[in-house]
Amino acid sequence: MEDRRKKRKVSLFCLQLLALLQITAPSSAQSTTTRPTTTTTTTTITSAADPAALSYRTHPADLTVAVGEPAVFRCGVPRASPNFTFTFYRSNANYSLTCPSGHVDDIPQALYGSCDMKNGESLAVWTLRGTSFSDNGTRVVCQQPENPNAAAAVLYVYDNGTSYAVLIGCIIGGFFGTLLVFGLSYTMLQRSETLQKCFRGKETQDDMTTIVTKE
Ligand SMILES: *[C@@H]1O[C@H](CO)[C@@H](O)[C@H](O)[C@H]1NC(C)=O
Ligand SMILES: *[C@@H]1O[C@H](CO)[C@@H](O)[C@H](O)[C@H]1NC(C)=O
Ligand SMILES: *[C@@H]1O[C@H](CO)[C@@H](O)[C@H](O)[C@H]1NC(C)=O
Repeated sequence: MEDRRKKRKVSLFCLQLLALLQITAPSSAQSTTTRPTTTTTTTTITSAADPAALSYRTHPADLTVAVGEPAVFRCGVPRASPNFTFTFYRSNANYSLTCPSGHVDDIPQALYGSCDMKNGESLAVWTLRGTSFSDNGTRVVCQQPENPNAAAAVLYVYDNGTSYAVLIGCIIGGFFGTLLVFGLSYTMLQRSETLQKCFRGKETQDDMTTIVTKE
C-alpha cells in the first residue's frame, strides 16, 4: 500500500514537472531560432517516400588513421530493401561493391569489400589492410538505388612519426654499425700487429742468441 502511494506521489511529481516543462517550452521555442528549422527538417524526412526502407541504418563515418594502420568503412541499409552500392574512390582506381551479394578482393592493393546480413540490416564493409599516404582523401559513397541521398565518408591518413623514427633509427643504426665494423677491424689489426711483434720479438731474440753464440 505504501509503495503504491509512493509511486503515485512520484508520478504526480513527474506530471507536475512535465506541466512545468510545457509551460516553459513555448517561451524557449520563441527565444531560439533553431527550433522551427529542426521541426521542418523532421517533417520533410517523414513525408519522404517509405522512410523505413529508404534510409541508411549504418552511416559510413570519416576515419583518421596513422599511415600503415588499417581502415574499415561500414554502410548498412534495412534488410527490407537490401540492394545498394558502396563505392571506394581511391586515387588510382574506383571500386564498386554491390550488396547484398557482391564481393571484392584486390589482394595486391590490400583492399577487401564484403556484404553481410546482420541484425535485420544489409551491411557492406570496405577494409583497407594498410593505409599509405596516397590513400589520404579517399572517399567512400553509399548509395541506395531509389534514394536521392547518398551517405559518404572520407579517409584521412596522417604521419604519426613512425617513418621519421624509422629514418632516425636507420641513421643511428648505420652509425653504430660502421663504428662496430671499424672497431672490429682495428682490434683485428692490433691483434695481428701484436702477433707480428711476437714474431719479431722472437726473431730478434733469435738474432741475439745467434750473436751471443757467435761470441
Ligand atoms: C536487387 O538486385 C537483384 C540483382 O541485381 C535483383 O534481382 C532484385 O530484383 C533487386 N531487388 C530489389 C528489391 O530491387
Ligand atoms: C573514379 O571516379 C571519379 C568520380 O566518378 C572519377 O572522377 C575518377 O576519374 C575515377 N577514377 C578512376 C581511376 O577511374
Ligand atoms: C591529407 O589531406 C588533407 C586534406 O585533404 C590535408 O590537409 C593533409 O595535409 C593531408 N595529409 C597528408 C599526410 O598528406
